[in-house]
Amino acid sequence: MPREILLNILHEAQNKHGYLSEDVLKELSVSHNIPISQLYSVATFYTMFRTKPQGKYVIHICGSPSCVLNNATTLANFLQKELKIKIGETTKDNLFSLYKTSCIGCCNEAPAMLINAQPYTKLTEKSIREILNNLKSSKNKVSKSANSKLKKSAGKKTKSGTSASKKSKPKKPANKKIKSKAKKLFAKNKHRGK
Ligand code: FES
Repeated sequence: MPREILLNILHEAQNKHGYLSEDVLKELSVSHNIPISQLYSVATFYTMFRTKPQGKYVIHICGSPSCVLNNATTLANFLQKELKIKIGETTKDNLFSLYKTSCIGCCNEAPAMLINAQPYTKLTEKSIREILNNLKSSKNKVSKSANSKLKKSAGKKTKSGTSASKKSKPKKPANKKIKSKAKKLFAKNKHRGK
């Protein structure tokens, strides 16, 4: 299969699922008749693909010259310290992922970063701390309202008489051989950050 088509398939799957999990690659292997080893090697070769879950907020701090000359390296270290993760990692609560990126086109307002594609510029340690705190508190608000909704709906039955939470989407079974090969490939990659 031509590389461009393969990349498109992986892009679409990543956009749909957020990342290319073992299950997603298995399904693609079956539905497009592509060897799982080929899918896996492409997914792990390109930095644009992720085989692990991303945080709700994906931070890309710029590491290109204009930003570096304006303190971006210190700010990248500050972000790592604040989030208690390294570049390329995701926080334990899955709220933040942190990456370095090349120029994001905000050089005249350096140093800059993107959070879920939204630019934040003229950064300082103080402004970064405020941004992170705002995002953390908005998460708390969402989970509080989600919790109260869950409590209200707990025990509610669907029309068919079964609890809504018990309903599960039908899964397309991947063939056994592909399943075990994917398991081995992902096990091998456990120690890597990607
Ligand atoms: S160098 Fe950082 S935005 Fe251009």
